[in-house]
Amino acid sequence: MADKFTVQSFKAAKAEKKPISMLTAYDYTTACLLEEAGVDSVLVGDSLGMVMLGYENTLRVTMDEMIHHTKAVARGTRRGLLIGDMPFLSYHVSVEEAVRNAGRFVQEGRAEAVKLEGGPDVIEKIRAIVKAQIPVLGHLGLTPQSLNVFGGFKVQGRDLEAARRLVDDALLLQDAGVFGIVLEKVPDTLARVITSKLAIPTIGIGAGPHCDGQVLVIQDMLGLFRRFRPKFVKAYAEMGDTTVAAVKSYIDEVRNGAFPQAEHSFQMDGSLLSKL
Ligand code: KIV
Repeated sequence: MADKFTVQSFKAAKAEKKPISMLTAYDYTTACLLEEAGVDSVLVGDSLGMVMLGYENTLRVTMDEMIHHTKAVARGTRRGLLIGDMPFLSYHVSVEEAVRNAGRFVQEGRAEAVKLEGGPDVIEKIRAIVKAQIPVLGHLGLTPQSLNVFGGFKVQGRDLEAARRLVDDALLLQDAGVFGIVLEKVPDTLARVITSKLAIPTIGIGAGPHCDGQVLVIQDMLGLFRRFRPKFVKAYAEMGDTTVAAVKSYIDEVRNGAFPQAEHSFQMDGSLLSKL
């Protein structure tokens, strides 16, 4: 196993210009595969609400659901930095609740850091969580928990005022002590400016090639999630197609008796059969 990837590795990677790879995972089997492949960081994203639980967006995801999945991913993750995504309303009501819920990710979920969405509105909570010795990854640009305010999954920071606000928010988050910032669905040129102004790494998703690292939802990059595919997703495999084809073959073979064969069955001493 290569050296454990930590929050310190995030800083070092930026300094050494080594791009950081991050993927989401929501279960033990996938976590083991990501570990085997050597990904730097594993995010238990609240995207699980959509790709695992079938909700229409991430707003219905609860703390208990996040902890349940984080525990499973933790059992399969060794080298990659494990980050738990704080769901909607888990850090909005009070500083105390935010710290307590971030603590649950570490104590119960065995996460090593948490991620939360937003800028000035959540800065107090970020400072308090960092003070509680829990590393925080920020998230700016398209923040899906604000879907109802944005009015859709739109590209953010396209006009001068919005772009300036994103630069300011990124600097504010850095000042509050986050170890990195996810930039979601912002123009690639704006992501480059933000990345160049920060000492901490940016992790892009739909933010172009100039970020210090990239993150994708695992179901998207494997071609498993078929409800929609955002423009920024590259599918590295079409496992949805592969799965449907495999299941069709199984159904056919069960129906025509081709499965199971002797090699999939268990035998017993034939002499015992006569005594049955
Ligand atoms: O929930 C999630 O998976 C995320 C990533 C897309 C960054 O927030």
